[in-house]
This record gives sequence, C-alpha cells and structure tokens, in this order.
Amino acid sequence: MIRPLIIKATIHSITAVATGHFEVRLDSRELAAAIPGQFVHVRTPGTLRRPISFSRLDRAQGRVGILWQVVGAGTRWLSEQPAGSQLDVLGPLGHGFPAPQADRPWCLVGGGVGIPPVFAALEAWQDVVQAPITAVLGARREDLLTMGDDFRDRIDDVRITTDDGSRGGRGTVLGPLAHWRAQNPNGQVYACGPTAMLAQVAQVCQGVEHVYLALEQRMGCGMGACLACVVLAQGKHGPEWRRVCHDGPVFAAEELIW
Ligand SMILES: Cc1cc2nc3c(=O)[nH]c(=O)nc-3n(C[C@H](O)[C@H](O)[C@H](O)COP(=O)(O)OP(=O)(O)OC[C@H]3O[C@@H](n4cnc5c(N)ncnc54)[C@H](O)[C@@H]3O)c2cc1C
Ligand code: FES
Repeated sequence: MIRPLIIKATIHSITAVATGHFEVRLDSRELAAAIPGQFVHVRTPGTLRRPISFSRLDRAQGRVGILWQVVGAGTRWLSEQPAGSQLDVLGPLGHGFPAPQADRPWCLVGGGVGIPPVFAALEAWQDVVQAPITAVLGARREDLLTMGDDFRDRIDDVRITTDDGSRGGRGTVLGPLAHWRAQNPNGQVYACGPTAMLAQVAQVCQGVEHVYLALEQRMGCGMGACLACVVLAQGKHGPEWRRVCHDGPVFAAEELIW
C-alpha cells in the first residue's frame, strides 16, 4: 500500500453532476496509484479535513476523481473552488476493496454518495471479472442520482432505484439486490452507502462469502489517532473496536457487528 502524503493537487476540472453534487478531477500521479475504496482527506477552511472517496483512478493520465454532495460548510467550500486552483489533500488513506474474484458474478451496490467508490472499483477491475457484472444504484430522487451513465457505458446490467420512483424502481437498492442474490448464490458483493443501507445489505447477503462494505463514518484525524470513527467488529477473542479510517473504510461484512 502507498504511504499517505500531503499533496497539493491541481483541479483539472470541476463539474456539477447532479443537484448539489460535484465531481472534481485532480492531477496527481501519487493519488492515481490508490486502490478503489480508499479516500482522501481534503483540507477546507477551519480545523478538520473532510474525507471523500475516489470516484475514478486513472493511472495512465495521473488523474483522479472525487465526487461529493454539498451537505455543510466544508463541501460547499469545495464546490466553489475553480479549475486550476490547488487542493491540499492527505492521502490515499485507509484500506480499499480487495481485487474481486475472476469467476464469481459481481454485484456493485451504491447508495447516494456511496456510488462513486463502487464505480472506481468497476473501472479498476472490470476486466478481471470473467463472470456477469451487475450494478444496483439507489438515490432518493432522480436529480440526486450520480454516475448512472458511467456505469451504463461499461456494463449492460444497471438497476436503478429511487425512494420516490422518479427513476427506475420505487424503493431502495435492497429489492434488486435480494433478487440478484437469489439468482447468484456464489456471487460477490461490493457496497457503499449510508450505514442503515449497509446493515441491510449485510443482512440480505448473509451466507454469501465475498461481501465487502465501505463505511462512511464521521471522522476526525483520518489517520487512526483520535478514535472518532470506531465501529464494533468481531475480533478473535470477542467484539472489539476498529477504526474506520485506518482499519477500513472497507470491511468484510462478516467482520462487522451492527
Ligand atoms: C471514508 C469516507 C468517505 C466519504 N466519501 C464521500 C464521498 O465520496 N462523497 C461524499 O459526498 N461524501 C463522502 N463522505 C462524507 C463526507 O466526508 C461528509 O459529507 C463531509 O465531511 C461533510 O462535511 P461538511 O463540512 O460539508 O459538513 P458538516 O458541516 O461537517 O456536516 C453537515 C451534515 O453532514 C453530516 N455528515 C458529516 N460528515 C458525515 C459523514 N462522514 N457521514 C454522514 N454524515 C455526515 C453531518 O452530520 C451534518 O448533518 C465520506 C465520508 C467518509 C468517512
Ligand atoms: S478519524 Fe481519527 S481514528 Fe479515525
């Protein structure tokens, strides 16, 4: 794994990709060597950095993508930075997804701002998987859905849900996921999204061997020092705390205690 560095990365472009959602392409050869599921900690005005996952990793061009929803002061500030300016980013941080198994059907599940890291996984490993690949993407409303076209450009089987039925099936990703799981008992699942969604993904996929979940816990230092981000996991001798920023953010589903 690459050692995290503090990098001044130039913004190549910034694009509004959905209501209140922006994607930046950053020029950085160091970051482009990251693993899908890892994240950067971006300096914004004030004390704490903000964790954002990679949405794309282009090693050939030395360019990465990060995509975020504006929810507060930090992400609003980020969305106002122009192309050509520099961001102060610490990364790549955490442990990303493992490479998928070549012979197992693969389901990528993304909810809301959990969609970008599973797209980065698809982009990195699509050619590794020789079995069918499915994406299940969920958003609250059609105008909040991101990266649907990016998935469609790469794979045929993209299933979309919205809470209000404004695009795709009405409801959450869990319906299409349960359907896929019933048809693919030997499949593998990579998911990212809100904690409540991930808890249910783990439930639906009980008994599936290769289920990996990328958590988006609130963070402080992002480097394993402050314990702001701990979750309860199954240790060798009973339950123990794990730091999402350092031990994760990707965990095998069977490790976590909900
Ligand atoms: C490993 C990791 C990867 C992430 N990747 C992405 C990503 O790719 N795209 C993206 O849009 N967001 C991502 N997030 C969430 C993102 O870090 C927060 O939305 C951001 O820090 C909010 O900063 P702010 O200053 O705009 O909002 P604040 O003013 O700090 O908070 C505004 C609101 O957002 C909530 N909030 C803040 N942080 C989080 C969080 N981590 N999880 C849930 N709710 C939060 C607060 O409770 C509050 O309601 C990720 C978080 C983690 C831990
Ligand atoms: S954010 Fe400080 S230990 Fe994880």
